[in-house]
Amino acid sequence: MSALIVTSKINEHRLWKTLMELAEIGASPNKEEGVTRLSLTKEELEAKQYIIQLMKDIGLEVRMDAVGNVIGKLLGTDPLASSVMVGSHTDTVFHGGRFDGSLGVLGAIEAVRTIKEANMKLKHSIEVVSFTDEEGSRFGTGYIGSKAMAGVLKEETFELKDKSGVSYREAFLHAKLDPTKYKEAIRKPEEIKAYIEMHIEQAKVLEESDLSVGIVTDIQGPVWLDVTLVGDADHAGATPMTMRKDASIAMAEVMIEVEKIAQCHGGVGTVGYVKVEPGGVNIIPGKASFTIDLRHVNKMERSKMVKEIYQSVSKSCEKRMIEWHIDVKKEVDPTSCSPDIVKSLEEACIHLNFPVKKLQCGAGHDSLIMSEITEMGMIFVRSKDGMSHNPKEWSSREDCADGTALLFQSLIKLAK
Ligand code: GLV
Ligand code: MN
Ligand code: MN
Repeated sequence: MSALIVTSKINEHRLWKTLMELAEIGASPNKEEGVTRLSLTKEELEAKQYIIQLMKDIGLEVRMDAVGNVIGKLLGTDPLASSVMVGSHTDTVFHGGRFDGSLGVLGAIEAVRTIKEANMKLKHSIEVVSFTDEEGSRFGTGYIGSKAMAGVLKEETFELKDKSGVSYREAFLHAKLDPTKYKEAIRKPEEIKAYIEMHIEQAKVLEESDLSVGIVTDIQGPVWLDVTLVGDADHAGATPMTMRKDASIAMAEVMIEVEKIAQCHGGVGTVGYVKVEPGGVNIIPGKASFTIDLRHVNKMERSKMVKEIYQSVSKSCEKRMIEWHIDVKKEVDPTSCSPDIVKSLEEACIHLNFPVKKLQCGAGHDSLIMSEITEMGMIFVRSKDGMSHNPKEWSSREDCADGTALLFQSLIKLAK
């Protein structure tokens, strides 16, 4: 590695300041409820403006693409060379934390700022990206910005509605984006040399190993199902137990099966949203709607999990004479990180005197989608108590700085 790399350091204080500033956007007045910046809402659009301003302040070429991805470019010395892309997202889940996504975007900005301040001349341009709607919390799908960029976003996505009945199309128009132009966000594989994302770990492996950072080798792929069960709403007192079509009991049975199936296959399964209707103390629920999130690092095992879930829904509903329907809202294959990027991150760790720790990733990220068009790598930063998608989500200032130092080193290697 060149002497330049050894002498330049990222600015921990500056990074932390931006993290805390961004966390104020969408922060609940009651701090215990954390940060909510659902995709394409006022709060999320404000966060994007904050990112745009930061990028402009450090002299990047900034643009918003056709699906609202914010992209800040540091020009390389060879205008014909492909770009190294780096980033994450600034949308959050409902009542989320301050680091999920934000650290990846702000760390990338800090790393590029350090490169610029050191006046390093790199052959490849670096594009910092903040993707639109990674979480999928508002419309039940997610990875919208990266899917559009990779050319795999489906037109029917724009028909999806949020819980208040607003469609994706309407949300786009509200954000001054034209939904008919989404294909303009597509990037060709030859334009992007690599995509690298720093993210909080959201689990306890690094904490238990007493390490600030780790290198991701594989990422689990999520399948999201929307399940609807329809029986009969009826009188809770007058209807004998043997004569009911209670949709909530069928749902409860399936929920227990989700846990068993996930454990049996070594994957994970979650029912994160449930609703029973009409919803009265003395009414048998005639309708139950719920979501299932299933993940595994192995696609075959995950397919078996999905198949067994269908069988379980069918079995529970058949014996209760309940109708059922399942909508697949998301299906993304598990993937492995580029062995070359993993190796280069290992070298960067050694250079920084960080122990090399490789680990798997349980959460989903835009990197899963970007791996369809380019070489992909991920850096993890220790999460306190492994907690995430929760207002208590926390990574220390020092750990965020270590992750960003590693990101900085790997960007220089990739872009030189
Ligand atoms: C996003 O954070 C996901 O893994 O669901
Ligand atoms: Mn995230
Ligand atoms: Mn998340």
